[in-house]
Amino acid sequence: MTAPHDPFGHLHDEDYAGAYAGRRAGHATLVSIAGRELISLDGPWRFTPDLFDEGLRQRWFADDESPPAEWTVPRDYDSTRAVQLPVPGCWTMARPEWRFFEGAGWYARDFHWDGFMPRLVLRVGAANYAALVFLDGVFIGSHRGGSTPFCVELTQHVRVGRNRLLIQVDNRRRADRVPMHHFDWPNDGGLYRSVDLLPLPDCFIRTFSVALVSGGIAVSVDLSDAVDGIAQVEIARLATAGLVVTGGHGETVIAAVPKLWSPEQPQRYTVTMRFGADRVTDDVGFRTIEVRGTDILLNGTSIYLRGVCVHEDDAILGKVTNDADIRRRFADAKELGCNFLRLAHYPHHERVAEIADELGMLLWAEIPVYWAIDFDNSETYADAENQLLEMIERDRNRASVILWGVGNENADTDARYHFMSSLAATARRADPSRLVGAACLINRERFAIEDRLAEHLDVIGLNEYFGWYEPDFAGLRQLLANSRPDCPVIVSEVGADALYGHRGGTRELFTEDCQADIYRQQIAIVSGVPWLRGFCAWLLYDFRSERRQTRFACGFNRKGLITEDKASRKLAFTVLADWYRAMTE
Ligand code: GCU
Repeated sequence: MTAPHDPFGHLHDEDYAGAYAGRRAGHATLVSIAGRELISLDGPWRFTPDLFDEGLRQRWFADDESPPAEWTVPRDYDSTRAVQLPVPGCWTMARPEWRFFEGAGWYARDFHWDGFMPRLVLRVGAANYAALVFLDGVFIGSHRGGSTPFCVELTQHVRVGRNRLLIQVDNRRRADRVPMHHFDWPNDGGLYRSVDLLPLPDCFIRTFSVALVSGGIAVSVDLSDAVDGIAQVEIARLATAGLVVTGGHGETVIAAVPKLWSPEQPQRYTVTMRFGADRVTDDVGFRTIEVRGTDILLNGTSIYLRGVCVHEDDAILGKVTNDADIRRRFADAKELGCNFLRLAHYPHHERVAEIADELGMLLWAEIPVYWAIDFDNSETYADAENQLLEMIERDRNRASVILWGVGNENADTDARYHFMSSLAATARRADPSRLVGAACLINRERFAIEDRLAEHLDVIGLNEYFGWYEPDFAGLRQLLANSRPDCPVIVSEVGADALYGHRGGTRELFTEDCQADIYRQQIAIVSGVPWLRGFCAWLLYDFRSERRQTRFACGFNRKGLITEDKASRKLAFTVLADWYRAMTE
């Protein structure tokens, strides 16, 4: 006879979470959604904040939704008391009392499945930071990483009819996470990008890639299963081909000469791939990006990256974004005269690169290996590397993405060097078609742009705040005079805080006049430096930052060229726009 269930066991079990560390979703389980018919699960979910972190310990996910009259033992989780929260959404933006709640939030919703396809995959666009997925009380899988999508297969457990999905999202900042517990943007928790069901055939196209190489277009495909066959590839108006697939993988180069994609002429081709009953399709631009000495070449021509940094942050939506918000971001950046955006400091929404492909904008995409990271921790490395590979897997067919960033302002130690050079090698192995970069710190002893990580990078990012954090511009002149980089350098951050409408002298901090003057002096000094091939203002919009509590900041980082409501431009906007415009005339 088995011992009767001990209703008090959970009170003494401090290892309860271990049971949910496995079944880890990652880059190897991602499924392409390109051109697929998805079943959206966006909309109101039933949300319960786990204010005392009881849910996993007490197995809230195991509770059915029977009416209290049928309860045989008491329970603490009652989804009828849950709050209707929108997905995509952040609980931190839903109620004032949850603004700084860092913990576990339980999202529940039902969905109906009629079994019209043999396989069913759940895709979460992003859950910050970690997620556990349960289907009708069964633990399906877990994920770490707050800004990349993940997929878990439901096929074995989904039933025809009503199914109950429960996702626990945990946004705690922890020393072993990526980023660690100290960063300069809000820690919004939630399912803040779309959640979808992917109905799929028995064997489906898991991922595919197309890229311009010498001699034509390299096409590759990975299937869900190790089967053999022929995939049909059609690149509209250009070429069609049969791609031999062996053991679930196939690759070839199709002879073709596409019109090249560029910010000025964002030419795209509809690529369709079929295998058996499955079909994916995507609009893809073809271009080359390379470095030669200290120059950056797009389609073989030298290019200067007229950039601005952007966060995903909105005073109302929090970390949630949408097409309208993204298109406004690009419109403002184009008004500024940009051909380049640095997507700081984590993978942005997949629609950003898709819309950049459509409108013509180059992108630096990066993972949040930001400031201090537990560089000695192998689990932390696995998390960072998985986020990098998920970002690459998701956006590898996006012409706009020209650079994978593997970190930002990380103090140079042996552990950091090993951690980040390994990430750079992983990026290069996973995607040889793009540049690899990082925002590096400078060598303070020699006061030069020197970082031993640079030997693993194609481009060095230089975050420099002369005129602001280092008031004396002589330091910038000295830094540039002392530096002999053998690869291109991009000023990957530069700027100053200014409260919109606060006016005064050019040395009066937090005034628009001071911010504008810093941009004028920066431009005068960096112009004409031959190995400086890009300038990325920090940043387009003011954003929420609880670290900053002066009478000017009031919980915002005010380095935006535009206010946090994305409506008012500061004086510095015009200073930078004039310089960028002069470059193109
Ligand atoms: C750093 C950091 C940014 C931060 C900025 C600032 O360079 O990379 O994330 O917001 O400085 O201090 O405003």
